[in-house]
Amino acid sequence: MKTIIMTALSTLLGLTSLAASATEFQPFQTYTRPALPLNGEWKIIVDPYENGYYNYRYEPFDQMDNPPRSAYFRDAKPRHSGELIEYDFDASESLTVPGDWNTQKEKLYYYEGSIWYRKLFNAPATEGKQRTFLHFGAANYRADVYLNGEKLGHHVGGFTPFYFETTGKLKPQGNSLVVKVDNKRQRDGVPTLNTDWWNYGGITRSVRLLVTPEVFVRDYKIQLNDHKTGELSGYAVVDGAGAGREVRLTLPQLNIDVRATTNAEGVATFSARAVGAQLWSPDSPRMYQVIVRTGNDRLDDEVGLRTIEAEGKQLLLNGKPIFLRGISLHEEYAVDGGGRVTSVEEARKQLQWARDLNANFVRLAHYPHNEHIVRLADQLGVMLWSEIPVYWTINWDSEETYQNAQAQLEEMIGRDKNRASIIIWSLANETPVSEARNRFLTRLADRARSLDSSRLISAAMEKHYDPENPERAIVEDPLAELMDIVSFNQYIGWYDGLHEKAERVTWHIPYDKPVFISEFGAGAKQGLQGDSNTLWTEAYQAELYRKTLAMLDKIDGFVGTSPWILADFRSPRRALPGVQDDFNRKGLLSETGVPKEAFGVLREYYRQRALERVTVEKAEQSE
Ligand code: GCU
Repeated sequence: MKTIIMTALSTLLGLTSLAASATEFQPFQTYTRPALPLNGEWKIIVDPYENGYYNYRYEPFDQMDNPPRSAYFRDAKPRHSGELIEYDFDASESLTVPGDWNTQKEKLYYYEGSIWYRKLFNAPATEGKQRTFLHFGAANYRADVYLNGEKLGHHVGGFTPFYFETTGKLKPQGNSLVVKVDNKRQRDGVPTLNTDWWNYGGITRSVRLLVTPEVFVRDYKIQLNDHKTGELSGYAVVDGAGAGREVRLTLPQLNIDVRATTNAEGVATFSARAVGAQLWSPDSPRMYQVIVRTGNDRLDDEVGLRTIEAEGKQLLLNGKPIFLRGISLHEEYAVDGGGRVTSVEEARKQLQWARDLNANFVRLAHYPHNEHIVRLADQLGVMLWSEIPVYWTINWDSEETYQNAQAQLEEMIGRDKNRASIIIWSLANETPVSEARNRFLTRLADRARSLDSSRLISAAMEKHYDPENPERAIVEDPLAELMDIVSFNQYIGWYDGLHEKAERVTWHIPYDKPVFISEFGAGAKQGLQGDSNTLWTEAYQAELYRKTLAMLDKIDGFVGTSPWILADFRSPRRALPGVQDDFNRKGLLSETGVPKEAFGVLREYYRQRALERVTVEKAEQSE
């Protein structure tokens, strides 16, 4: 039993130390801040040999005191007819930012390596001691960033935000921003060499230049600790001020207007009571305006207020049992042949598809998706699972790999901690049980809990069979002890027998926790008709859904599922000609959004589930 009071106390204690430790990773809430967008056409140089980064002795130019003008980040032009410069961004081809490079140019479809991006821009006017920051929504996988020939820094991890301060480094006109993006897969990377999704490379999310006052609100967190009393707590991080700085937190629609003072780390903590607040839920995704102010700086945002807990085998949203009518989703929108999602409209379309399924929950797999979709989910009332790409067999023994995974966890939670829609942080997917893995994930779980005690922690685990009884499925994993809900993937009927097997399998899941099936499914080529015992037909997939859902309904503590997957998606592991053609075909929709028969099966199952809940609620209200 997770007690609210405890949470409140640990939250308050946690907050001060959290805010202190947050200085390590410094989240920057930028989505609602005005900024100069640097999206659009960027000039590029495709550099498989990294000739623009290393000299012929393979020494990195940006480690040299005086890097030569042959280094691409110098963005140089011959100064006279005798100067040898063997690149020219102005005369080069271009790519659109945000966007992956694989679906923008035929020749880059399979490309894994480095590409140099260059954007020229004029600096916005600044007054007095204003500060400027370059912010990237994401770039896959490693980004080295240079401004006017000077290195600003680098970032590793393809799905989380990063930024650099550029105060005093901008010229009024013609600033040269050069970014080397390298999407080569790494054995020690997160993810590692092998995944079942396309390794889209590039500056895949927006680039923005922000101007702030010298002292500004860089980050804040607000959470509802008790849905009965309305007790709220939170903190704000002021950048540029030490102790003694006044910060004001206002939720005008709730008549909350509190002030607090920063500690030595520039952190001010708040507590308040949200009297009469309408709690956030899929049926009523009420959002409240939030304003955080200090001096002449003001950060505007909006939040939903809700609590999410695990109690025994139940999942409680605002204290009421909830069933997660879910679907899994990759951050890919291939309707027009595209790749990574880049716009609010595409994200809205994905959530609309999920709503058409009568879903109230989406598993964002297997990495943090763009900020558009989590903010839309807040507004539309779709609950979310957000995950870091600790996927399959990463290098559990490498401390560098651990630090990489932890940084991605911090960046994911840092960006989305105020999103009511996100109810579950997932640490991993289908990772093999071992001492090293258990240690690795235990550290991650501790870090996640220290960063955010208001959400549930989980991971997609796996099942195995009882050696004595090949139809007795068991979910037993030391990691489950650490998780708030026991989630696992199972593919009975696809990688494990045929769909009729689901009628015979029984489950042994020895935990007093809610049980969630984070994946199941079957491949089907949209439009391929045939009998329901023939693989790849729509009928086979539909039958597998019917039998699997009936099997899951018998599991004690079953609180929901997110079948694999909403739409067909690209994967280099899917080579069957005429059927897969580089697509994983387990979608309920084709990659262009055409429903398969199973879409209707799941939609009807969720319609029934939703109806049942309404009936239960009505009965409770009439008692
Ligand atoms: C795995 C994995 C997915 C993969 C799916 C499949 O469970 O988590 O990333 O795409 O199975 O094989 O289709």
